[in-house]
Amino acid sequence: MHARIPQIDFSNADGLWIPRWPQMAHRLNGASLFLPYLEPYLIRVMKQARPILAEKAPDLLADVDVFNRQEANHYKVHAAYNRVLFAQYPGLEPFDAEIKADFERFLSEESLDWNLAYCEGFECSGLISSEFFLQEIDDALGGSDPAVHELWAWHLAEEFEHRNVTHDVLRTVAPGWLHRLRGFKAFGEHLQSFTARVSEHLMAIDRERGRIDDDVLAESEAFTRREGRFYRPRILKILMPWYSPHPRPTQAPTRRVLDAYPEKAA
Ligand SMILES: [Fe+2]
Ligand SMILES: [Fe+2]
Repeated sequence: MHARIPQIDFSNADGLWIPRWPQMAHRLNGASLFLPYLEPYLIRVMKQARPILAEKAPDLLADVDVFNRQEANHYKVHAAYNRVLFAQYPGLEPFDAEIKADFERFLSEESLDWNLAYCEGFECSGLISSEFFLQEIDDALGGSDPAVHELWAWHLAEEFEHRNVTHDVLRTVAPGWLHRLRGFKAFGEHLQSFTARVSEHLMAIDRERGRIDDDVLAESEAFTRREGRFYRPRILKILMPWYSPHPRPTQAPTRRVLDAYPEKAA
């Protein structure tokens, strides 16, 4: 496991970057908007857990440090892409302010145990997103903007690579099935609501601009149903008391992305 950083030029990037599946493009745009706040939050929470790990599980510290370097690279590249989104779509500033305040509140008002469970919930879901994006939807991604596609392929490949870190940290510092479930629920409700509202906002703008027609929407419904069939059983596994991200094998498409970049720290 190591940190990589791609050199991506977003100067010609298009916010409507998946022409065959605009809802997915804009949900991921919603995710991109929260990442420059969520990922620094992950790093802060992992740093707060460090002294406890040093005592209870010092073997996890090296992975936590690589995790933090990967997440630091992720949010910086997403912030560069987000500048394109802000330039292309009016009305995103209130969303940005809202999500910034949310993560500041979590850090100041919630306990370390709560924050660790939230982080673990997010990372569990990131593992499903990684497998789905890199292994299941090449057809739906046909014609996608190469810069934004590369951003997500790189990010989600590293999400797969560091899939165990927050799970292992939570199990060490604040174990317990119900506690883990509460974190998953908190993360899910929080970020799903945010990305759905951002996506709705961006979809409305593109429809008004005449960039999304009914034929595209009809075709993309099939992709969305496929997404549901992929996610549901995997979410069910996350909810089980024995869930662990450890046994997932690294598939060839993920390996190819991970091997494409030289090692580079934040
Ligand atoms: Fe990340
Ligand atoms: Fe991550």
